[in-house]
Amino acid sequence: NTKKVAVIVGSLRKESFNRKVAKEMIRLAPEGLELQIVEIKDLTFFSEDIENSPPQTWTDYKNQIQNSDAVLFVSPEYNRTIPGVLKNAMEIGGRPPKENSWKGKPGAVVTVSPGAIGGMGSNQTIRVAAANLHISMMTQPEAFIGTIKDKLQEDGVTVDEKTAKFLVTFLEAFKSWIEKF
Ligand code: FNR
Repeated sequence: NTKKVAVIVGSLRKESFNRKVAKEMIRLAPEGLELQIVEIKDLTFFSEDIENSPPQTWTDYKNQIQNSDAVLFVSPEYNRTIPGVLKNAMEIGGRPPKENSWKGKPGAVVTVSPGAIGGMGSNQTIRVAAANLHISMMTQPEAFIGTIKDKLQEDGVTVDEKTAKFLVTFLEAFKSWIEKF
């Protein structure tokens, strides 16, 4: 039976490298793993004042997470930590506590950057927030994809062979991780 993975991209940029990598992961996913991007761009800012009567966009978003078997974060690093839009989406998904949509799900994170260290700080801080949200994150392999501009093919969309191979290895490990739950 196919496992459904909700993919959350931590950048709203049209030409986002992270979105490109997320799309490549959708393409490269092994048999039995179905990845789908859950959009976060229409979510308003989280406030406790409205969490008990949330807007429809929040509810639709939470349902998409709830209906998935697992969650994959693909995100840039902003100032060595989680981009605000992603953090906001993590908060909305987890509130109120009795309706935490993330609860008990297996998860994984990939960070992508034009810089050399591949968003390592963001990768780590996403794990910190995920732990508190009761997401069981895969520990290995880690995926910090740095110098992404050099890893895209001339089409500007697909990744080079070595990166594709790594993503396949990562996705296979994630599939095994999900199957443990
Ligand atoms: C960045 N960028 C960045 N890169 C990085 O490796 N470490 C960092 O701490 C930061 N900080 C940072 C802060 C802010 C506010 C911006 C806008 C950018 C650069 C970032 O990696 C680059 O813009 C990526 O292209 C963003 O990812 P997407 O949009 O291409 O997916």
